[in-house]
Formats: sequence, C-alpha cells, structure tokens
Amino acid sequence: MTNVLVTGGAGYIGSHTVLALLNAGYGVVVVDNLCNASKESLVRVEKLAGKPVTFYQADILDKQAMACVFVRENIDAVIHFAGLKAVGESVQKPLAYYKNNVQGTVALAEVMLEHGVNSLVFSSSATVYGEANEPPYVETQPLGNPASPYGQTKAMVEKILMDVARANPEFKVANLRYFNPIGADVSGDIGEDPNGIPNNLMPFVAQVAVGKRDKLAVFGDDYPTKDGTCQRDYIHVTDLADGHLDALAWLLKQPSGCAEAFNLGTGEPLSVLEIVKGFEQYSGQPVPYEIAPRREGDLAAFWADASKAKQVLGWTTNKSLQDMMVDTWRWQSQNPDGY
Ligand SMILES: NC(=O)c1ccc[n+]([C@@H]2O[C@H](COP(=O)([O-])OP(=O)(O)OC[C@H]3O[C@@H](n4cnc5c(N)ncnc54)[C@H](O)[C@@H]3O)[C@@H](O)[C@H]2O)c1
Repeated sequence: MTNVLVTGGAGYIGSHTVLALLNAGYGVVVVDNLCNASKESLVRVEKLAGKPVTFYQADILDKQAMACVFVRENIDAVIHFAGLKAVGESVQKPLAYYKNNVQGTVALAEVMLEHGVNSLVFSSSATVYGEANEPPYVETQPLGNPASPYGQTKAMVEKILMDVARANPEFKVANLRYFNPIGADVSGDIGEDPNGIPNNLMPFVAQVAVGKRDKLAVFGDDYPTKDGTCQRDYIHVTDLADGHLDALAWLLKQPSGCAEAFNLGTGEPLSVLEIVKGFEQYSGQPVPYEIAPRREGDLAAFWADASKAKQVLGWTTNKSLQDMMVDTWRWQSQNPDGY
C-alpha cells in the first residue's frame, strides 16, 4: 500500500483529501497541530471511509517530532496542507505567517530529504499570480508579487521547492494553485468550520442562512464586472481533493525529479451576487445582504486557465454550482455550530 503523510489533514481541504485518499486505497498518516481544526473531522472521515487514519498531533516546525513520524511510518509521499491562511491576519502578524508557512515547509522538506521521501504535493494558491498578471491565470505567467504576507509565503515556498528539486535530482514537487474552494462532502458530515467570523464568502453566506449572522456584507458593487461585484473561480472541495490524488499519481510515476505548478479551478468566474442568488435558489434559504465599501487589496476578477491540469494530470472538475450550494447547506444545516 502507498502511504501518504498529510500535513494539516484535519483541516477543511485536508479532511476531504484524506477521505478521497482512503477511498482510493492509500494508507494515510495525518500530522496536524489542531491550531485551526478539530480532531472530530478525522473521526468522521474514518467513519465515512470505514478505514482508520493514523494521527499525530504535532507541529511541522518540530523537526524532532516529524522525524519520529517518518521513522515509525513507512511514508512514500507527502501532501502538505499545514499552514496559516487568513490574508487579513497575515498583514497583522506577518512573522507568524512567514514562520509557520515558510519555515514550516523548509523544516518539512529537510525531514523528507533526511528520510529519503521525495514526492511532495504542496497547497499553493492563485494569490501567487499577484496583481500584475491578467486573468485567466495560466502557469506560464511569472510568479507575481502578492499584496499580502500570506500570498508572499505561498510564492516563496513555491520558489524554495523548485530550488530543492533543482538541487536534488530525485525530488518531485507539484505546486497546486487553488482558486476558491467551497462546498462540502456530499454526506454533510465534514465541511469548512472557521473559527470566529469567517474570512471567506461561502461560510459567511452559510452562517447567515442558518441564522448565526444577521446579514452578509458585499464588499463593493462598482467593480468593472458584469454586476459590479467581485468575480472568483469557485471550485468544489471534492473536485479539489481529487486534484491532489491525480497530482500524487502523476508524481509517483515520474521517472526522475521534477517541479511543476498546476492551477486547480473550474475556469468559470462567478460573482459574489451570483453565489448569493445561487445559494438562495438551491438551499431555499434567504440570505440578506448589504453593499459595503470595497475591501483593500481585493482584485475585481480572476479565474483559472485549468487546461494544464487537464492535459497533464487528466483532472477536470465534475461538480456544478448546484452541488456546491446544496452541499454547503447540507453541512451547515446539519452542523450549525461546526464540529
Ligand atoms: N481554503 C482556501 O481558500 C485556500 C485557498 C488556497 C490555498 N489554501 C491553502 O490550502 C491549505 C489548507 O487550507 P484549508 O482551507 O484546509 O485550511 P485549514 O486551516 O482548514 O487547514 C490547515 C490545517 O493545518 C493545520 N496547521 C496549521 N499550521 C500547522 C503547523 N505548524 N503544524 C501542523 N499543523 C498545522 C491547522 O490546524 C489546520 O488543520 C493551506 O495551506 C492554505 O493556505 C487554502
């Protein structure tokens, strides 16, 4: 059996990917310090898959603890989700972000090399394209200069991992640039469970619908888009999870080292108001909203050119807008207070 170490596997995207890995017959070892997750997500994943997950509560910065995991478990490859992800918080606490995301990945890569584990799938982000590149973003565009420390950490880590691959002929890395993951597993048992006030649109919409928040603030309706609100490329988290399995399978069959970036998005931009209307239509719940001033740093619109992932990995999205909305609502209404 191929054993995959999943860092940050108790989190939102990690838990969905762990489920997909178990269902596909991989052995899974999760390392998570639970700074932004609950162990309950993995309990539910185990129930859904009918298979166990080996769990270590540890910090990726703790090289000794990580080395123990590599010694005890027979790791063949790593999928690396562990990181801090709140753009606004990263402006307030840049050092925490550089330490956790950049230093944490350097420590992980060191331990991997020390233990002869050469295949790594990394959670990057569309934010690495920065503000200067024109959408649709395509992997041939240069890495940009992201506005936030969070975005900088993703661009830095991509560069570091490419250098590691250049220096180590066996090392293989896939930098997966996610667009905007939303939705939840079709069971409604696992989903996105943000701490405090959600930073992202979809969990905010869902919390308004379930009555936890009064109304949604739509930041700006005077952008040069079809309805004036920002447009993003929303991707169902299950499609995103499947992208990791395709990237992993591709890496494992590469005969020698490589470093490639792949966009994971649908290629179809949707506006904030289209999401709000879609949610109301498919959940049957009203979502009161008000127009608020633009938020600093928000780009008007960006979306993926996802043709490389299709051509090279054989990956495409299968889920519809309706799936994203229905699945979000099933998770939120069954778990109004999260895990
Ligand atoms: N959700 C998005 O919109 C989005 C978009 C692009 C990229 N990403 C990236 O994907 C990854 C996963 O995102 P998510 O939405 O599932 O976030 P999440 O916060 O739900 O998951 C991250 C997990 O990593 C764990 N973690 C954080 N720092 C750690 C450390 N030092 N050691 C061990 N565990 C640690 C957290 O407890 C959490 O379980 C992140 O790297 C994020 O930056 C997310």
